Amino acid sequence: MKTIIKKIDRYQIDMNIIREAGQILKRGGLVAFPTETVYGLGADALNKDAARKTYEAKGRPSDNPLIVHVADIQALDEIIQNPPPELHELAYRFWPGPLTIIFEKSAVVPLETTGGLNTVAVRMPEDLIAREVIIAGGGYISAPSANTSGRPSPTTAAHVMEDMEGKIDMILDGGSVEIGVESTILDMTVRPPAILRPGAVTRKMLREILPDVVSDEMRQITPEGNSPKAPGMKYRHYAPKAPLTIIEGTPEEEVKAIRQIAYEQKRYGKKVGIIATSETAGKYSVGVVKSIGARENEKAIARNLYGVLRDFDREDVDYIYSESFSRDGIGWAIMNRLGKAAGYRIVEAEEITDRQQFRRILFVSGSGNCRSLMAAELLRNCELLQEYDICSRGLVVLFPEPANAKAEEIMKQNGLSLSGYETSPLTEADIDDDTLVLTMEEGQKSKIRSEYGQAKHVLTFCEYLGEPEEILSAYGLPLEQYGKLYKRLNNMIQKLADKLNEEAQN
Ligand code: TXA
Ligand code: MG
Repeated sequence: MKTIIKKIDRYQIDMNIIREAGQILKRGGLVAFPTETVYGLGADALNKDAARKTYEAKGRPSDNPLIVHVADIQALDEIIQNPPPELHELAYRFWPGPLTIIFEKSAVVPLETTGGLNTVAVRMPEDLIAREVIIAGGGYISAPSANTSGRPSPTTAAHVMEDMEGKIDMILDGGSVEIGVESTILDMTVRPPAILRPGAVTRKMLREILPDVVSDEMRQITPEGNSPKAPGMKYRHYAPKAPLTIIEGTPEEEVKAIRQIAYEQKRYGKKVGIIATSETAGKYSVGVVKSIGARENEKAIARNLYGVLRDFDREDVDYIYSESFSRDGIGWAIMNRLGKAAGYRIVEAEEITDRQQFRRILFVSGSGNCRSLMAAELLRNCELLQEYDICSRGLVVLFPEPANAKAEEIMKQNGLSLSGYETSPLTEADIDDDTLVLTMEEGQKSKIRSEYGQAKHVLTFCEYLGEPEEILSAYGLPLEQYGKLYKRLNNMIQKLADKLNEEAQN
């Protein structure tokens, strides 16, 4: 089938295109169109065959009911029975908008549309294109999200094309949607009323009219649970190709945990995708990082979520890890969809970060231009099972200095270089709880312990490895002595690397 694709401007709607869409719908054809939540795959809701075609195009099981979209409240009279007393208040407050309400259905609505249920889900979208399409198509348009079943819902016409081109009659391209996650589903056929799917109309907003409204999130988070109320919940949804895991903790812990995993996976030859925020995206050094928006702007996160998940299907990543986001307001809907996309794999950040004791290894010497510089560079050249920020500092550094010339010469003879490094003084900011400070001499250790009270892990390098002697400065001695210093340091660094790697495996 050749799919007609038409661009359409929400604020200057070309009615010829709308008429064409209307004719296709009335003939029982399929037209994808934008709504404020996600793109919908429209069909005549009162036509059984159109419902059948919808399931086929989506590859969706036919017991998963469709939402009937209407353009005005009068349209309800035809398709529902025994309306709940709060209907008008709800409609007045939330329609048109991102709220779907479940009612008892009338005989006019075919069971093919409702997946065999005696109830019908109805929504009145706000998007101007959607409203025109509904009217032109006869007033009752069923529209599931216009994605292949199991893929993220489409938030742009390009997403719809990826999944539906060649399978449906027409796609109306109205640009990006405004909200980005599907409507809230509210079941008014049960008492107390129940939210079956969170969306942009939040529980708090609904409580103003329905003080006893409950959320049936339990049925959402147990996809294989007993006969879920919204049948769509029992299927794996919104799933990206690579397995997704949500890491949950404070933003700092999440970054540490995901960095740690990305580093580990890279060592196993695996490629990791990372869903980050604009605040954290720059903090990752390994992996394909995509920012979903600013942490405090939940609306932008909702809008970008499905697009980012789809983008990862084009990257050949083996695993995806996502930071977690606030559950406030629309955040509940965001975490609900992300949870589904992850198949509910959620891991505490601390469970991961606890597996790595140190994240920074800081070598300290007197002037910081020789022993500690050499040690740090030697360690950087070791194969380590975990990622460390490896650096060196001096206790008496008045201004930045390059490496000691003899130290540099010796390193060069061994195929290493100290060029580009400059000395810097130790400051409190260099030492975190997960910093291992290794000094060359006993005196340096005591100085740090007394002057930097917050430093938890300060040892002499020798002490850490269980060796008796200090590592003394070779300053002013002939090059040969620097050679000996190099040998000793190199030896100790190999031991240190082994020790760190051993700890990493515990
Ligand atoms: O924002 C939206 O609601 C979008 C746009 C296109 O309007 N549509 C949408 O449709 O998300 P769909 O088919 O992808 O999701 C509809 C959900 C499914 O989980 C389905 O099981 C549930 O609504 N549903 C539909 N009719 C129902 C009914 N009678 N009782 C319980 N759940 C119902
Ligand atoms: Mg859907």
